[in-house]
Amino acid sequence: MLFSLALWFAANAVTQGQETGKHPEWDRWCGKVYMPGFPAFDPGGQTVLPPSAPGQPLLNVHFVPRYSLYLEGEHEAEFIVNAALSPYFGQHPWPAEGEKGNGQSVFDFSIRLASDNNTLVESHVMVNSTDNIFRFDLSRLTPSLEPIPVVLDGAPRHGSSNPSWTAQSDVVYLPDKPNGTVTKIDKLNGGLLFRSRATDRNFTSFFPYGFYSSYDGFLGNVTLTNTSVLQRYAEWGFNAMTPLTNYQDAPDVFAVLDRMDMRFMFDLREYYKNLTMVQEQVLLARDAEAIFAYWSADEPDGWQDPFEDPVLAHDLIRKLDPYHPVAVVLNCQDYYFKEYTAGADIIMEDVYPIGINSTWSKWGTACNATLGDCGCDDCSGAAGVLNVPARLDILASHERDANLWPPKTKVHNPQSFHGEDYWSRDPTPAEEAAMVLLAVNHDARAIISWVYPDSDVLSRLHGRLAKVLTASPAADFLVGATRPVRARVTVGGHPDETVDADTGEQLNFVDAAYWVVGDRALVSVVQASNSDIDEQVVVRVPRAFRIVSVLWEGPSAEDTSGDGKAPSLGWWVKCNGLLAVKGLPAVTTSLFIIDLKKHLTQNL
Ligand SMILES: *[C@@H]1O[C@H](CO)[C@@H](O)[C@H](O)[C@H]1NC(C)=O
Ligand SMILES: *[C@@H]1O[C@H](CO)[C@@H](O)[C@H](O)[C@H]1NC(C)=O
Ligand SMILES: *[C@@H]1O[C@H](CO)[C@@H](O)[C@H](O)[C@H]1NC(C)=O
Ligand SMILES: *[C@@H]1O[C@H](CO)[C@@H](O)[C@H](O)[C@H]1NC(C)=O
Ligand SMILES: *[C@@H]1O[C@H](CO)[C@@H](O)[C@H](O)[C@H]1NC(C)=O
Ligand SMILES: *[C@@H]1O[C@H](CO)[C@@H](O)[C@H](O)[C@H]1NC(C)=O
Ligand SMILES: *[C@@H]1O[C@H](CO)[C@@H](O)[C@H](O)[C@H]1NC(C)=O
Ligand SMILES: *[C@@H]1O[C@H](CO)[C@@H](O)[C@H](O)[C@H]1NC(C)=O
Ligand SMILES: *[C@@H]1O[C@H](CO)[C@@H](O)[C@H](O)[C@H]1NC(C)=O
Repeated sequence: MLFSLALWFAANAVTQGQETGKHPEWDRWCGKVYMPGFPAFDPGGQTVLPPSAPGQPLLNVHFVPRYSLYLEGEHEAEFIVNAALSPYFGQHPWPAEGEKGNGQSVFDFSIRLASDNNTLVESHVMVNSTDNIFRFDLSRLTPSLEPIPVVLDGAPRHGSSNPSWTAQSDVVYLPDKPNGTVTKIDKLNGGLLFRSRATDRNFTSFFPYGFYSSYDGFLGNVTLTNTSVLQRYAEWGFNAMTPLTNYQDAPDVFAVLDRMDMRFMFDLREYYKNLTMVQEQVLLARDAEAIFAYWSADEPDGWQDPFEDPVLAHDLIRKLDPYHPVAVVLNCQDYYFKEYTAGADIIMEDVYPIGINSTWSKWGTACNATLGDCGCDDCSGAAGVLNVPARLDILASHERDANLWPPKTKVHNPQSFHGEDYWSRDPTPAEEAAMVLLAVNHDARAIISWVYPDSDVLSRLHGRLAKVLTASPAADFLVGATRPVRARVTVGGHPDETVDADTGEQLNFVDAAYWVVGDRALVSVVQASNSDIDEQVVVRVPRAFRIVSVLWEGPSAEDTSGDGKAPSLGWWVKCNGLLAVKGLPAVTTSLFIIDLKKHLTQNL
């Protein structure tokens, strides 16, 4: 008896203390064994919707401050309030007792400070509405390095006030920062705002675009007086990087990045579990003139790291430096998403789908949902570049399925390398542009490629695209507008649908999205298939009536320099709200600004 209890403890310690999932004694990735000779098994950890509640829907109330932080000196702030009806989540059924439940019912609420019950907002929302904005006055709060707890209480306007709803959140309202930088996340739209000496301490739209930057062969050659390799990096067009080094090994590199305003995400991944080391480095990094975020864990889901480790690192970083967000890279498609993002303010994904064998691995096993590691978890060889937007969509659906709101800001890490016997070749320039713009179409808010130095071909391609995406006008839409809106596409008059030979799932090869600011929109269209489309392609963007300028037409599939311009594709406005093009060659990308017809009056 004693003996088996001890064994149980030992086994449990392995699972909980070291690695997550099943069979931690075997070599696994994303919870799946990848060496030959082991049985396939369900790795667990999938994000699934709970069963729907019997009977009426539930009223799912959430609220959060609009920005991840506010600074002393700012006067106005906002809350976002959601009161959605859901079959799965919510405190109580709706309609509440005594309610008519005609879909127009009103939910009254107030938001107060938890400390003294001082009311910040007293108002109402329509039931089943989301993203409602309510201003409040920051002077009612005292700046603090600690988050300030706030509470929402609400009840149906008509009918009984029992049961009542309650929800919690925090306002981060920090003392002003005399030096260094501050990064805010817009939780309504997902974009990043950044402030530094270089921006005159004004918050400005920031779309980071750059590379993970090696020490060997790149940053190792930077000195205080010789910055030529960094100048070259900046000249390609990049405004950001993640240096793969730290203050202990390369203090001069960080001094030069500060001087150049080359904004960086600070890498803690190799020692993120060693909180002593994390503390030492964060204390050195937090007042830098160019830091915009921290990177704690690299693929903790792939490595099956203990769930608490990214959370402990996050909490320590934010305690030492509440002015910057913390990012985590996920590698797996569906392995304990909630647990591995609990310590992430920003979620990055590194889907590398080019040159893979998605069904048979270098280790000598098949790859599928229960076995193997083919370098791109649960990817489809046939889907190619479309694995990237598919993953971003899946991560967003995990958030919805786990009732995690608001959605976290997402970042794509493009594949700009080959090797390791997983990836037989580099992406072509056309594929690289397609992956970046597909990610942007699917709500990625920064592009950080693995890894620099790469080939000059891919640096040139990325640099050209970076110059477009990080500057006005594109950045005004990508950071300042609401999340990308998917545009309906028809090819030759039919909906665009092809079936993936590997998975049987539907593929949409023409992927289009748009962003509206005022009476203009940015439109992005990617033709992701390896064959030309010779029929008319029509993209529906409501109110579209004039193309103002073409910002980008990607390289053709044959381009091997990264510098190729596609011959003008010839988009035109077919009729109000419909953009058309005669055909789209294989793997082409285009980005343009259009005028919209002014809103018609309500009473038609
Ligand atoms: C605030 O209100 C709550 C709920 O009504 C109550 O439990 C709490 O004691 C109040 N706190 C203060 C400081 O008044
Ligand atoms: C609530 O809103 C959603 C999204 O707009 C809609 O699909 C759903 O039908 C609405 N539910 C009810 C009961 O009105
Ligand atoms: C930045 O300001 C803080 C707070 O005043 C101060 O403690 C710190 O030494 C300053 N850092 C630098 C690098 O000037
Ligand atoms: C910062 O904001 C001030 C006041 O709005 C403005 O005058 C100044 O031009 C801005 N600076 C930059 C770099 O945007
Ligand atoms: C410096 O640059 C040379 C030439 O590009 C390269 O071979 C060397 O690896 C670099 N050194 C470091 C420390 O990065
Ligand atoms: C500066 O560094 C680069 C890269 O290591 C090197 O090629 C170049 O010779 C250096 N320039 C000077 C003036 O030392
Ligand atoms: C953690 O980091 C500290 C500070 O760098 C170092 O002294 C210590 O040896 C590290 N601990 C482990 C277990 O690596
Ligand atoms: C993947 O590898 C298997 C085994 O070597 C081979 O039969 C198959 O053709 C490969 N598939 C691709 C797409 O390369
Ligand atoms: C994955 O492949 C292994 C080996 O062929 C097989 O035993 C297992 O059933 C497969 N799993 C799925 C989900 O298809």
